[in-house]
Amino acid sequence: MPRVYVTRQIPRAGLDLLAQSCELEVWDGALPPGRKELLRGVTEADALVSLLTDAITDEIIAAAPHLKVIANYAVGYENVDVAAASERGIVVTNTPDALTETTADFAWALMLAAARRIPEGIEYVRAGRWRTWGPELLLGPDVWGATLGLVGLGRIGSAVARRAQGFGMSVLYHTPSPHPEAQDLAAWAELDDLLARADFVSIHTPLTPKTRGLIDTRRLALMKPGAVLVNTARGPVVDSTALYDALHAGKLFAAGLDVTDPEPLPADHPLLSLPNCIVVPHIASASYATRERMAVMCARNALAVLRGEPAPNAVNEA
Ligand code: DGY
Repeated sequence: MPRVYVTRQIPRAGLDLLAQSCELEVWDGALPPGRKELLRGVTEADALVSLLTDAITDEIIAAAPHLKVIANYAVGYENVDVAAASERGIVVTNTPDALTETTADFAWALMLAAARRIPEGIEYVRAGRWRTWGPELLLGPDVWGATLGLVGLGRIGSAVARRAQGFGMSVLYHTPSPHPEAQDLAAWAELDDLLARADFVSIHTPLTPKTRGLIDTRRLALMKPGAVLVNTARGPVVDSTALYDALHAGKLFAAGLDVTDPEPLPADHPLLSLPNCIVVPHIASASYATRERMAVMCARNALAVLRGEPAPNAVNEA
């Protein structure tokens, strides 16, 4: 029976599928396995199911002589050294589509919560400060009718754009080149132009060497005064220190962050001292159904490769 090493408990549906034809070892820790444990875990493994919190480096891959597939439990896979895997003929897979709509919902939740100051309102009521209705209490910008700028227009960015139609928003997007098929959904703009025109900016680009630090001090300065920034993609796309400065100075109205740099964000991080910065722990895809779909997708990818078939969601040519 092929051996599968799974780096954390994932929803049962995926584990059950794997267990039908494989010998499973599942790391049971509440935190990700460390480097030593990963090195041990992959030694005999034919398949590895990894999480975005696991650094699957060249060293780990080299320690896995039988490994045929790395099935990453995420749509992003910057945690895996794909080049090193490809060199050894190891297939790397991800979980596209499974989480698109759920993540788009969450980007909207952050956009609305940040603009309309929902966490501050909750805090205000809980602190016993709600004494009367106030004409100027907790005001924020309107979302409806505003201009939304999407940095990236893949599956999730497009799903966010579709929702914007219901809010009567004008939607701009930036990708390296325009997507003609998106013309009914959003209008292409250069990144600097998009930042200067959007009331809300939502990040939907993968983390690559080109997008690391993309939203830096210069680009934050280009944003409209009072704009709102939302990030459900990857933390390092936004420079955390520059973002703190822009929020602290009141240049931006607010930010809603599902992802941060570093991750997890330490409790004493300056961003957490700001009332206009909402931070949640990377949960945009955290619905029951989506996390189960991701688990099944991972299992199917691993099983396909173990059977000698093409993986439905390979990201490399191995
Ligand atoms: C992903 O899949 O890349 C998300 O960040 C977690 O679901």
